[in-house]
Amino acid sequence: MLDSTLTDLEARAPALIRQAASPEALEAARVEILGRKGTLAALGKDMGKLDPRIRADFGKRLNALKRDLEEAYEAKKAGFERAALDARLASEWVDLTLPSPGVRPGKLHPLTQIQRELEEYFTSLGFAIVDGPEVETEWYNFDALNIPSTHPARDAQDTFWLADGNVLRTHTSPVQVRAMEKFGPPLRIIAPGRVFRNEEVDASHEHTFYQLEGMMVDRDVSIAHMLYFMKGLLSAIFQRDVTARLRPGFFPFVEPGFELDIQCLICGGPGCPVCKQSGWVELLPCGLVHPNVLRAGGIDPDQWGGFAFGLGLTRLVMMRYGIDDIRLLAGGDLRFLSQF
Ligand code: FA5
Repeated sequence: MLDSTLTDLEARAPALIRQAASPEALEAARVEILGRKGTLAALGKDMGKLDPRIRADFGKRLNALKRDLEEAYEAKKAGFERAALDARLASEWVDLTLPSPGVRPGKLHPLTQIQRELEEYFTSLGFAIVDGPEVETEWYNFDALNIPSTHPARDAQDTFWLADGNVLRTHTSPVQVRAMEKFGPPLRIIAPGRVFRNEEVDASHEHTFYQLEGMMVDRDVSIAHMLYFMKGLLSAIFQRDVTARLRPGFFPFVEPGFELDIQCLICGGPGCPVCKQSGWVELLPCGLVHPNVLRAGGIDPDQWGGFAFGLGLTRLVMMRYGIDDIRLLAGGDLRFLSQF
């Protein structure tokens, strides 16, 4: 009985393994024949019941069959592995002789591009580019600019106060005073930089944005001088006609003060979320420097006068490129940024 089972297996099993059509079929055959609970193991167990005279011979046949089957299994398995590797190599090959797609150079952020254009424009007119700290003292950010402690801009809603009493500067205007102290009169400076306000973010407001401060101190500086530079600035940036309006504006550090608005270039006038449906965008507050501010900078207001402006650089970029949401500029999305 055992003998006929072995004979049957000797005849059938090698073909079962050699002809397995897939790695899965091969594995199934291995489990069935060579597995721990497979046919060979069962025969090995039952062998003890055989007559000792034929047991040794039976054992030899069993071992020989097992060895043959294991060899056949390994060979078949290696065949499948080779075929799988060949298929992968055929589908995944890379042609190393193809020309490379080339380096993809980065670009300057649109804000940086416009800042540089403005720097070029103003340096050509004799202005120096200066810098100031983003963490500013209360004195430079407010007091020296004639902003009394009761002014709403100091409110916790507008200003990020630090634990040590300093502030994240809410505008670039503190650089006016720092520049007056450093250079003395006469002076012409611009100060581009990042500013911070504790603001609700929407299509036209960010908590972190960029301004470009400008200041000129000299003898007999008038509003006419100021307007000359403002107009030049707008035509340098837009290189086309933009409709601008000048209206009175209150800033404690200028007297008189103005708001220079431009007609919204996103909607062209009828109103949109960027211009808050007004058709106009506040871009360029400006004015003649208040005597108290000149004094705070160590300059005698009876001898010298000046104008100053605080351009909303981020808004200017939006107007120039027709960007309808300020949040896109800080988003870091290369699909957006690579357009400029
Ligand atoms: C000021 O910050 C003054 N320091 C400007 C100034 C300088 C006036 C010198 C007179 C003389 P204002 O808060 O309006 O002013 O801000 C200036 C510009 O920054 C605005 O016209 C606007 O274009 C931009 N701006 C203000 N708040 C935001 C904001 N949350 N997000 C983006 N841009 C803003």
